[in-house]
Amino acid sequence: MHSAANAQGDLPAADAPTADAATADAAPTAAEDFDEQLDALSAETLRGRGGLKWAITQPGELAAWIAEMDVPMAPPISAALHRSIDDGAVGYLPPAAAEAFAGAVARFEAEKFGWNVDPDAVVPQADVLAALELAVRRLLPPGGKLILPTPAYMPFLSLPPLWGIEVLTVGLLPDPEASGGYRLDLDGIDAAFAAGGALLVLCNPYNPVGKVFGRGELAALTEVVDRHGGQVFADEIWAPLVYPGNSHVPYASTSAAAAEHTITAVSASKAWNLPGLKTAAAIVTGTAGRAAVGELGDFAAHGAALPGLVANTAAFNQGGPWLRHTLRYLDGNRNLLAQRLAGLAGVGFRRPDATYLAWLDLRAFSAPDGTVRGTPIGAYLRERAGIVAVDGTDCGAPGFLRLNFAMPRPLLAELADRLATALDDLPRTA
Ligand SMILES: Cc1ncc(COP(=O)(O)O)c(C=O)c1O
Repeated sequence: MHSAANAQGDLPAADAPTADAATADAAPTAAEDFDEQLDALSAETLRGRGGLKWAITQPGELAAWIAEMDVPMAPPISAALHRSIDDGAVGYLPPAAAEAFAGAVARFEAEKFGWNVDPDAVVPQADVLAALELAVRRLLPPGGKLILPTPAYMPFLSLPPLWGIEVLTVGLLPDPEASGGYRLDLDGIDAAFAAGGALLVLCNPYNPVGKVFGRGELAALTEVVDRHGGQVFADEIWAPLVYPGNSHVPYASTSAAAAEHTITAVSASKAWNLPGLKTAAAIVTGTAGRAAVGELGDFAAHGAALPGLVANTAAFNQGGPWLRHTLRYLDGNRNLLAQRLAGLAGVGFRRPDATYLAWLDLRAFSAPDGTVRGTPIGAYLRERAGIVAVDGTDCGAPGFLRLNFAMPRPLLAELADRLATALDDLPRTA
């Protein structure tokens, strides 16, 4: 198989792609076409498209909240889905599709991050949160608590209590080696394990702060976890979206000890924008995880959708060229935002090393509880400027704002203008 994707150093497909997929892959959308298509999308067009991010907005508002992108679908994914729907492949999950998916995940991890994953360790899931539920329900001993570094992806804070699980939050600390960056509070995590914590959620790369963890920090974490016989849920859904100059290191790849106490979750849903297709993989590398999956039998993969597996397999096998276009475009947006925010006195911001989320420290404009004139700053910016973003309080950090910049660049420029005007109107509180 000699597709253009391979010629560009892309991943070889284990299951030989059909002629359609090879054709789609051989003609990736040219960079200019990709940019032009995306730049040309108006808010009205996006509102009419049906994705959740824009669907809840009113005319005049700009959607920068939930983690969806406005990019067009990758041609190899679209081709694979069309082919599979035309074949009527919408039944329960057949073993061949699960095997192709596991092979694609294993190959992607090996080629991209140097992590050799046994395809037998790859368990299809309905989504990453289903994998979290698997880890919580099966790895936590009775009464065991979840340890969660904060700020955090919002459902990590809100879902476990609904399952009857107590969450011990441990705030990130400023990183002395990266201005405006963060590091794990290892002493705080140690104390949380001592206080009954049994399963740590590690988001790597980190939503919302955009951090990519280095080997040293991960090794130090492994020591803490092992000291307490703890377990880790490593959420690596953002791993393909790392900007040049940074590298993702899968946590479970760092040592035998880390692999032994970890369930890793991966998916194509963020990087190729497929969250509605309900598919992720739990990579189960430890004894406890393997036993849990063994006990569950077929139910371990319950909820994973065949079309989602087809799309994820195409993404991991053939989505390289499209991912490069996306990352390049996002990098341009990241730089535009950094440039514009640098001119706004009082706004704390560090360019994320990964993800398309910007984490803005707006505490200089808000009260200690994160409000402005009695309204949470996120809601204030929506009312005042039509910017629909995530209020930091929902991530456990009042006075911050999580802003999704995966939108057409002209809309992002407009958003930056509106933010500047809205903040300009506010007295500084610090
Ligand atoms: C860190 C993180 N984990 C999980 C998810 C949700 O993934 P899924 O839809 O596969 O459950 C998201 C979505 O934004 C996320 O940012």
